[in-house]
Amino acid sequence: MNPSLDSRSDELTAIVDAEHHVQVGLAQALRDAVHTGKDAALAGEILDQLTAYSDVHFLSEQLLMRMCGYPDYDDHVLDHDRMMERLEEVRRQRGVGAQPLALAEAEALLALLARHIGTRDRVFTDYYRAWARHDADPESQSPIQRENFP
Ligand SMILES: [Fe+2]
Repeated sequence: MNPSLDSRSDELTAIVDAEHHVQVGLAQALRDAVHTGKDAALAGEILDQLTAYSDVHFLSEQLLMRMCGYPDYDDHVLDHDRMMERLEEVRRQRGVGAQPLALAEAEALLALLARHIGTRDRVFTDYYRAWARHDADPESQSPIQRENFP
């Protein structure tokens, strides 16, 4: 994320959306590489890229959440932590037994990521856009009711 951008700019949510596209693209490429079953080394490289990219993306998303005082921060971060643990566990398993990544695992990673982006991230970016449109305390604006959080 470019630190020179205005924190209330729509450009920031556009960047988050673009990062989600990259994440999903990597997860789809991983699933496709596993599905062909021809190049385990390539699948491993994509898995490494997906893990590293997700780590950086989650940190930048969490920074935005802190900037706007996002009320669902803790639960959202827990979701990020679980995804990182899952990615790291899959990497560890590959490293130990040099086992090829199972297609079911690659599909599960893609589904997990897509679900997170389609639920928690969508709610967060809606909240952030509402916050960015107002200069007042976001809590007094109540742009999104608590019951809307997944
Ligand atoms: Fe997220």
